Amino acid sequence: MSIHTPQGGHPYVRFDPLLPSAQAEELTAICERLGSYKMYSEEPVHAGFGEGLPARYDAALNFVRSGGRFARREPPQVLAARTNYFRESYAYGENVLVPGIEPFLHHEGFALAARKIHGRPVIEPAIVYANLLLSGQELAVHTDVPEFRGANRTRLPQWLLVAMHHSGLFEAWRMPIATGIAYFHDCQGGDLALYPDGADAPPRTLPARHNTAVLLDTDSVFHGVDRVYEPRPDFPPLRPGMRLTFDGAGRWVVRNGSDAVASYDWKDLRFSVSWKAYCFEDEAERQTWREHRDDLAQDAILPMIVADLRRRGRISGAPADDHALALAIIDEYIHFPASAAASAGAR
Ligand SMILES: [Fe+2]
Repeated sequence: MSIHTPQGGHPYVRFDPLLPSAQAEELTAICERLGSYKMYSEEPVHAGFGEGLPARYDAALNFVRSGGRFARREPPQVLAARTNYFRESYAYGENVLVPGIEPFLHHEGFALAARKIHGRPVIEPAIVYANLLLSGQELAVHTDVPEFRGANRTRLPQWLLVAMHHSGLFEAWRMPIATGIAYFHDCQGGDLALYPDGADAPPRTLPARHNTAVLLDTDSVFHGVDRVYEPRPDFPPLRPGMRLTFDGAGRWVVRNGSDAVASYDWKDLRFSVSWKAYCFEDEAERQTWREHRDDLAQDAILPMIVADLRRRGRISGAPADDHALALAIIDEYIHFPASAAASAGAR
């Protein structure tokens, strides 16, 4: 375990190796045993404010506007398909959903690193999930969806929670989360690009190598996944609703219902497993959260944001329609890193 503390930035911790080798081998076996992964873009969108907008409208908007970290120009539907990756959960809280994940869920090194990056001693695992990206896919630069006491993704749009954290207006209710990201095979391409020195500084890139991991505050540090090596420029027309399924003998198939759309070997995929844990100051703070004793009132959130946007001169007059207000919130609070091409041009 090695701790990296960028000057004036956010610390991150690297693990190499993460697990004893037999346990590390077991992770790809778990991935195959679960064997069917849904598209992340199927996650629910909310009724009410922001209804009809994509869950991660912030990251999608920036990706389409910028063309990603390398400012690539492709039709929006191709860019969207490149970020329609696959996900399933392996544990939720202490609940093991896929047997065998226990050594990963209760990894001592992750808990120790989580204490260090947030300076908070009480660590409670929240979720373990797997992401699978296909050859030619990438993950748009983003920060993860944070949580606040009384406000999380089951109640509010994900992009709004992200903007709430970046705004700094709701820090009193924020629940600091540590995220460990681990790899259990060697991926060609698909480096993790991190901005621990801030969005205006160059990123650091970490390759996805078997039995290594990195842990950091991904709710605050922008990060993304560079494109997974693509031998042929014929990216399949992926659409929400498709699933990635394991067919045995190292073969994976994307299916639309029962129709095969594209097939892949393990070497064409990028497999990562993420661990997220709440980091509490003390037991009293954990109890306050569990018992909902100091929850953020949901009907107070938008008025607080609108009042701040007025103070900043971002909006004036009558309230804007929902879409215009969503755009104002994202553009005012979430300052994405410039793409490599844009920052080269600016120098
Ligand atoms: Fe992320």
